[in-house]
Amino acid sequence: MKMSKKLTDKVTWVGKVDWELNRFHGEEYSTHRGSTYNSYLIRDEKTALIDTVWLPYDKEFVKNLKDEIDLESIDFIIINHGEIDHSGALPELMREIPDTPIYCTQNAIKSLKGQYHQDWDFHPVKTGDTLDLGESKLIFVEAPMLHWPDTMFTYMTGENILFSNDAFGQHYATESLYNDVVDKCELYEEAIKYYANILTPFSRQVTKKIDEVLALDLPVNLICTSHGVIWKNDPLQIVHKYKEWASDYQGNQITLVYDTMWNATRRLAEAIATGIQLADPSVTVKLFNAGKEDKNDIVTEVFKSKAILVGSSTINNGYLSSIAGIMELIKGMKFKNKKAAAFGSYGWSGESVKHLSNDLKDAGFEVVNEGHRTLWMPDEADLKAAKEFGKEFVESIK
Ligand code: FEO
Repeated sequence: MKMSKKLTDKVTWVGKVDWELNRFHGEEYSTHRGSTYNSYLIRDEKTALIDTVWLPYDKEFVKNLKDEIDLESIDFIIINHGEIDHSGALPELMREIPDTPIYCTQNAIKSLKGQYHQDWDFHPVKTGDTLDLGESKLIFVEAPMLHWPDTMFTYMTGENILFSNDAFGQHYATESLYNDVVDKCELYEEAIKYYANILTPFSRQVTKKIDEVLALDLPVNLICTSHGVIWKNDPLQIVHKYKEWASDYQGNQITLVYDTMWNATRRLAEAIATGIQLADPSVTVKLFNAGKEDKNDIVTEVFKSKAILVGSSTINNGYLSSIAGIMELIKGMKFKNKKAAAFGSYGWSGESVKHLSNDLKDAGFEVVNEGHRTLWMPDEADLKAAKEFGKEFVESIK
């Protein structure tokens, strides 16, 4: 049975929709709505394959490709990015057509050799290099750190398609493939989560690359990503959205992330949130227990926030392990232009707030005060004080 989907006269999708995927990058990234690994076959006078699929689907990929085309007729393989979710089926494919030339960046050669230890017929390409297919031509654009050093985009003339690999993607399984036939809320939830968790540290490079590509003024009919939908309806909408997100994006949101041993720190979080909302009824306030909620969803909410408060009980002279985990993720995102403070309840030594304040500073946040500590279980007066702290926090971030 043919599993491919024809996109245009010359381009056919030959990827894999993975509805079952619920974790990506090992256990590091939650994929509540699955994903796709998009691979594209271009048939002009010459034939080119762009990217493959993740390793567990390598045999299925090659079988499906054989149903679509005689493998021997593939003239060129383009690898936009060497990570295993796109190159995983390459060894299986190369066992069938070992002499087919592979076009990719010099860094992708390092990545592919490092992973597969094969001396395939590599052809390194740089920005502006082209490959003639007949009526159409491929133009390569290096895009380092969107999101790995080896990444590149490939632009196809004639049909005006940008093959952007991970950039503009989402972990979002879809049979319909196109952005105009999926649930828009779900699509943008996954797109912003993807940006927040994967691209935030490289926002400066994102802005530079987008400006560079837009300055070329190339017509774009489709943006064919390597994960999730193909942007067909108003394809540049996601490019403009990336520019907005890359400009140290923040919404009118304050997020409280906490963990709690005996609910004292939770009660403080709720009192602080009440104070924030009273002081500024226009602000969106959200609370997440880092010990219970999905870490990537929390990072997405931090991305959307102008300020955060992080709270923890004190344990072993420090803070709780779920808070340590989320702080490590937050630090890695290199967020800019966000304010913060710490809070927490304690029974004896009470260092969590001091450590959290220091670590938030190290993570690049502007820490606006020394934080708020409460000894033992908060009583009415303590909860009132926490509410006041929330109000004062709003004032201090104005
Ligand atoms: Fe989808 Fe960086 O791999």
